[in-house]
Amino acid sequence: MKIGIIGAGQLGRMLALAGYPLGINCTFLDSDSNSPAGLVSAIHVGEMDNINHLDSLAAEVDIITYEFENISVEALKAINPSVQIYPQITALATAQDRLKEKQLFESIGIPTAAYVQINKPEDLKSVEKKLGWPVVLKSRRLGYDGRSQHVVDSNSSLKSAWDSLKQVPAIAESWVNFERELSLIGVRGINGEIVCYPLSENVHKEGILRTTVAPYEDTELHNIAQNWLFSIMEKFDYRGVLTVEFFHTEQGLVANEMAPRVHNSGHWTIEGAETSQFENHLRAVLGLPLGDTKPRGYAAMLNFIGNMPSTIDALKISGAHLHDYCKKPRLNRKVGHLTLLANKREDLLKKIAYVKETLN
Ligand SMILES: Nc1ncnc2c1ncn2[C@@H]1O[C@H](COP(=O)(O)OP(=O)(O)O)[C@@H](O)[C@H]1O
Ligand SMILES: [Mg+2]
Repeated sequence: MKIGIIGAGQLGRMLALAGYPLGINCTFLDSDSNSPAGLVSAIHVGEMDNINHLDSLAAEVDIITYEFENISVEALKAINPSVQIYPQITALATAQDRLKEKQLFESIGIPTAAYVQINKPEDLKSVEKKLGWPVVLKSRRLGYDGRSQHVVDSNSSLKSAWDSLKQVPAIAESWVNFERELSLIGVRGINGEIVCYPLSENVHKEGILRTTVAPYEDTELHNIAQNWLFSIMEKFDYRGVLTVEFFHTEQGLVANEMAPRVHNSGHWTIEGAETSQFENHLRAVLGLPLGDTKPRGYAAMLNFIGNMPSTIDALKISGAHLHDYCKKPRLNRKVGHLTLLANKREDLLKKIAYVKETLN
């Protein structure tokens, strides 16, 4: 079985690593030959939006998937139709645009933060009256890890924030006073088979995920979120892993955004669940039976942002599972992570505190 993967970042690397034991071969397309997945698997070095490069990948594989969201939908649609692409391009097109994403949530009855569309300078004037302050101004497209968004609390800062986004189509979103952030990762396979991981609790700083602890145990919340996730999947006749990020507020869950791919908040599933999100994504897109999503106790994932700790120091920590993506250190870049497991939640929290102190 040969699978073509567009984008060769760390998500691709972990997909490739999950494929090896099953005899699944991943071939990547990325413009950077030194990308994390290219270091462990075959790679075509080329532009992800170039139809010739996409077609030469397609010529070698049975199925195409992607680990990177900002690919041209037009280029994907032009790929030789004899090769199927999962998750469906329609789901990707929705996830690429925060407005379409919100409209999808609304159409299914999933609560979202109130928002105002910003397309022209006059649109800025209605924001204060409709949403109050603060608001988060987000470009509709191309944002990730908190980029292309600004928290603002006055008309003048709203205007300068939109100017700094070069006045691209955007949304102003009301500030959500959340108690915590949660995400839910589901997998839909061939013939509509569906499985779901438990809720994960996520801590972000400066818009970048720092820590995930799972499972977040609340059956009622889980069931609500799972119904929504499954409704989204049905709508697209989805194949693959789908993630929805939520704010947990006093009024319940508010959907933030969705990702039609494996997700940083699911990295804990490599060691912490019966089947990882990466293996399940491969199984789903290839039409194989899906794997058990049951957690093995409690798991935490700590992201390394900017640079890695010393390998020796990390490996001295008993039970720590180190993942080094082999990326060059750079400010605010995700370069690796560490997973911790425990049978009891309180033991896990103690381990997290110990690791944070030890690795600084
Ligand atoms: N409306 C909001 N209210 C409060 N916090 C927010 C809001 N929007 C975003 N954030 C914070 O910023 C993070 C990143 O925003 P998000 O919309 O998920 O963009 P990205 O695509 O960069 O992940 C969120 O996980 C959350 O911590
Ligand atoms: Mg997000």
